[in-house]
Amino acid sequence: MNQKNSSNFFVFFCFIFLVNAISFSQKKIPVYKDKNAAIETRINDLLKLMRLDEKILQMTQWTYGKNDNPNNFEEKVKELNPQIGSLIYRSTSPIYRNQIQKKAMEESRLGIPILFGFDVIHGYRTIFPIPLAQASSWNLDLVKKTSEIAAKEAWLSGVNWTFSPMVDVARDPRWGRVSEGYGEDSYVNSVFGVAAIQGYQGKNLSDKYTIAACLKHYVGYSLSEGGRDYHYTDVSRQTLWETLLPPFEAGVKANVATVMSGFNDISGVPASANHYTLTEILKEKWQHKGFVVSDWGSIKNLTNQRVAKDLKQAGLKAFLAGIDMDMVDDVYKNNLLKLVEEKKITIFQINNAVRRILRIKFRLGLFDKPYVDELSEKERYLQEDAISVAKELAAESMVLLINENDILPLKKEFKNIALIGPMVKDSIHILGSWAGKGKPNDAKTIFEGLTNEIGAKSTLHYAKGCDFDGDDTSGFKKAITIAKKSDVLLVFLGEKSSWSGENGSRSTIALPKIQEDLIFELKKTGKPIVLVLSSGRPLELYRLHNKVDAIIEMWQPGTFGGIAIAEILSGKINPSGKLPITFPQTTGQIPIYYNMRPSAVPKMGHYQDIPIEPLYQFGFGLSYTDYQYSEINISSSKIKKEQTITAEIEVTNTGNLNGKETVL
Ligand code: GLC
Repeated sequence: MNQKNSSNFFVFFCFIFLVNAISFSQKKIPVYKDKNAAIETRINDLLKLMRLDEKILQMTQWTYGKNDNPNNFEEKVKELNPQIGSLIYRSTSPIYRNQIQKKAMEESRLGIPILFGFDVIHGYRTIFPIPLAQASSWNLDLVKKTSEIAAKEAWLSGVNWTFSPMVDVARDPRWGRVSEGYGEDSYVNSVFGVAAIQGYQGKNLSDKYTIAACLKHYVGYSLSEGGRDYHYTDVSRQTLWETLLPPFEAGVKANVATVMSGFNDISGVPASANHYTLTEILKEKWQHKGFVVSDWGSIKNLTNQRVAKDLKQAGLKAFLAGIDMDMVDDVYKNNLLKLVEEKKITIFQINNAVRRILRIKFRLGLFDKPYVDELSEKERYLQEDAISVAKELAAESMVLLINENDILPLKKEFKNIALIGPMVKDSIHILGSWAGKGKPNDAKTIFEGLTNEIGAKSTLHYAKGCDFDGDDTSGFKKAITIAKKSDVLLVFLGEKSSWSGENGSRSTIALPKIQEDLIFELKKTGKPIVLVLSSGRPLELYRLHNKVDAIIEMWQPGTFGGIAIAEILSGKINPSGKLPITFPQTTGQIPIYYNMRPSAVPKMGHYQDIPIEPLYQFGFGLSYTDYQYSEINISSSKIKKEQTITAEIEVTNTGNLNGKETVL
């Protein structure tokens, strides 16, 4: 062979070798790892390779890291199994999270990524107003923005899945979790739930900074009897379809990635073992393609609810009803294998559950991009946009309930202003329940906010007056002393954050007696009183509302709520919030909500000892200015099926201050 031929041969040989090497290496990459293959193809390929024990681990979720939620004190941290399907991730470190993920990608047989979840309910480290407050803003775009920011902070901390939004239509404010949803109306919960989902999930789940959302608690949990958390719920078909399901249907239509089943017993069939709701409605009728996760131990709880004689039967009932992933109680891990061996569950059924879980992991891009960026805390949290959105939404969520003689905004002639109450220097309760990884020392207190806002023009006098509860009235004396030398009294009262949220049921929605007594004593000074309330629920103001000159419900407004309330009191911001939930006259008037079905004899049958109407209606909220509404102009007096009509109102600001107005 001459020189030229041998070099051609050599080139040809290298080419063949290269092609083989590439195809050989390509042959080595299984389809499920091929990022160019379709997701469903990758799922089918992976399911074929998985063993039954690996499939069951994918259906299992544990917690990992310190559990710091007081209502959720049970903690299970185990020697990490790299094949675990999901972890509730309680650290904030992306580095630590990536190390765990690396273990899953490299030490498990098939390299299936772990799905890291966390309760990002109203912010991750930057804490926004509680969801009930967010609904008071009636600002869907801002709520969506809030969820986008929360998703980014969570993603940068290693979290790919939030157990939010909660869309339980709530009409009994004794139930502490009324704070976590969007109030008493089905439509309001639907539109805010969708806004939150869109904010969390973005345009594409595999994009950076987007996280999977989770609609909860499916379904009817808010009807817990007497407002007692975790209790029986009597749910008629009418109420189920007319009131409770629409927000979940809206969320499924908005492509929510996951749904969480509730703790509650739905008229004898618990939500976590309810084939009708979980499979016939959610998966078959609505075609939900994501997966269902149980609530914390809600499968094990089926034995408490006496629908399962033991954990094995609980696992069987939950699985056959449609629960795909088991949150922290290990019922699936300890029983599904046996149930398959006993032919009570088929591999086909197991595959369907695992398929849904893998689908979300693929959609999140976790197989191809399993790791998150490793930025510093300073780069991850409390960025410019987070701070400005948190302040803006806090201000827009606050509701002006009374403003006698326009005592607000604070007048220039108020040279001496008293700041009284347990909320004035608080930085804990202002964050609300489920405050994620929010830190009290990030929070601006009301005292700091007012000092910045009006401290230069007025002298501020502070007295705590009393604690949130108890019977120590020794602080009243100093409060009365500073009141007497002040022109106006700003009194900040309310609830501790643990009084609402999970396991936050209360037999009365009135403030503790000591707080009411403080108002009665201050009233005796004859000074005008502005009462500002921080709470996670509507409050009973029956004895207070005619003792004060103004009331603002500021809810639990989050990290920057102290600045927002100061800017509202000073008039820099004109309050625009409106109630998404009714304020009853008294606890005894519960349930009372705007669209109650009509009574047979409307003028009779009401409580004889209190007024018929609630104290503040759904949708109520004042402004510092006045608005004039024109007559409603409707595009047509008839409407056919599938047709729409437009109702128009012209709104005129007839006052002398700019403002925002939501036309309900
Ligand atoms: C809790 C709550 C649920 C939360 C879950 C994980 O018990 O009911 O809303 O998302 O457990 O913490």
